[in-house]
Amino acid sequence: MSETTPTILPIPIFKDNIVWLLESDPGHAVLFDPGDCDPVIEALQQQHRIPTHILITHHHHDHIDGVLPLARHFGAKIVGHTLDAGRLPPLDIALKDGDSLQLGPWMCTVMATPGHTSGHVVYRIHDALMTGDTLFSLGCGRLFEGTPEQMWTSLQKIREWTGIRRLFPAHEYTLLNLGFVARYDPDNPHLGAMREWLFQQTDLGLPTLPTTLERECQCNPFLRADDVDFGRQLGLTGKSAVEVFAHIRTMRNQF
Ligand SMILES: [Fe+2]
Repeated sequence: MSETTPTILPIPIFKDNIVWLLESDPGHAVLFDPGDCDPVIEALQQQHRIPTHILITHHHHDHIDGVLPLARHFGAKIVGHTLDAGRLPPLDIALKDGDSLQLGPWMCTVMATPGHTSGHVVYRIHDALMTGDTLFSLGCGRLFEGTPEQMWTSLQKIREWTGIRRLFPAHEYTLLNLGFVARYDPDNPHLGAMREWLFQQTDLGLPTLPTTLERECQCNPFLRADDVDFGRQLGLTGKSAVEVFAHIRTMRNQF
């Protein structure tokens, strides 16, 4: 793996969405999930970059409403999952699970992660994974169109994808999720360091994203559904990882 890692910058939109901007070739960029147009154009102008591609993780409006106007404005290609082509803006490049796409110097690989929606995909660029609404820091997406088993399988695939280091979710929910984790996993030895880092970031007015896969494996309850001690702590001794996952998802929905 090359020692250079891609630079990916946040463009905050709405209350808690983040559009990620990948610096591809000089003067060019790749956008992920632009749910809005004007703040993205402003950020691109500040960066002196023109987007060549717009990649979509799933069809929800807060991820796609800026896609068409931005694509028309800049002549960028729209990229998304073949399976969801019927409910995404018109795709110039339709990809399926396992396909790759060259983005400037970077190779981008697609992985299907059904659970939040049936057609959700994540995009890998070098060590970075654009996780959309599949995985958040200390959380995961709600199961609007998938089963707990599907989402747990998707999360396991992310956890086991060798070489992934940085995670770029599409929402900044970290502090909200911290309250949930602090309540249900209070003795987690890694939580103190994470809390300290989060408060440092927010005190400086900085985003708490990207996060790292290492930190999420230690602290994100949805990635720990197969941790026997955690299951026991939740009163779920002997239950399968899928059952523990489903229980945590239900508790989080009610939190
Ligand atoms: Fe969503």
